[in-house]
Amino acid sequence: MKKSFLHIAIIMDGNGRWATSRGLPRVAGHRAGADAVRRTVEAAVELQVGTLTLYAFSSDNWRRPIAETDALMLLFEAYLHSEAVRCLSNGVRLEVAGRRDRLSSDLLAAITVAEQTTAQCERMLLRIAVDYSGRDEILRAARAATSFSGFSRDSLDNALGPDVDLLIRTGGERRLSDFLLWQSAYAELVFTPVMWPDFDAPDLEAALADFQLRDRRFGGIQSYSDDSPGGRVFQRL
Ligand code: FPP
Repeated sequence: MKKSFLHIAIIMDGNGRWATSRGLPRVAGHRAGADAVRRTVEAAVELQVGTLTLYAFSSDNWRRPIAETDALMLLFEAYLHSEAVRCLSNGVRLEVAGRRDRLSSDLLAAITVAEQTTAQCERMLLRIAVDYSGRDEILRAARAATSFSGFSRDSLDNALGPDVDLLIRTGGERRLSDFLLWQSAYAELVFTPVMWPDFDAPDLEAALADFQLRDRRFGGIQSYSDDSPGGRVFQRL
């Protein structure tokens, strides 16, 4: 696999348990989780990952107590304010995926600034999924695609973004939780018991090493060890 095309997606789970096991409020786990995000983004850039998509807040996370959802939204806003310039200097383009109609105007403004500041960066694409639901994204993309004439599988693929190569979930659970359902059709899955706030560069490297041992056949009998033109073209046949 040519690393510059590699798409890694991470379900960042375990913040709450990390905090409560230390006698701390859950929000302390989310704050520590934000530090893990910074470390992981740096490590991904070093590893020449092409796209890194992080699941920061699912549409179902609105079911949490309002104090926790408010704290998370403020944390995302602070992250975007503090990281936009750092992303720019590291060549990282920042994008936020998910619904925007339920986000505060302050968070929306921070998203706009971060996306505009880093729009020209090409070293890595960092996508942060906020108020994200894979099912909802598929429905919206299908509706948009069918409203154009000449609807095709390609137009849907393009609307939904790049396929995931490696999907990592921390925190010991083994489920997808409505994350990138379409894009993960052929993703290799790595589940780790490491709680997200403890996740660090060696954990990312270990997941990548595991991924590199996988035999990817995309439903066929031939192995694809790199993606140009191999697996990706094959997937669209
Ligand atoms: C899941 O762990 C985590 C979340 C719902 C929030 C993820 C947020 C962060 C990592 C904070 C910062 C993110 C950015 C982009 C700055 P959980 O709370 O469900 O943990 P639990 O399963 O142990 O309760």
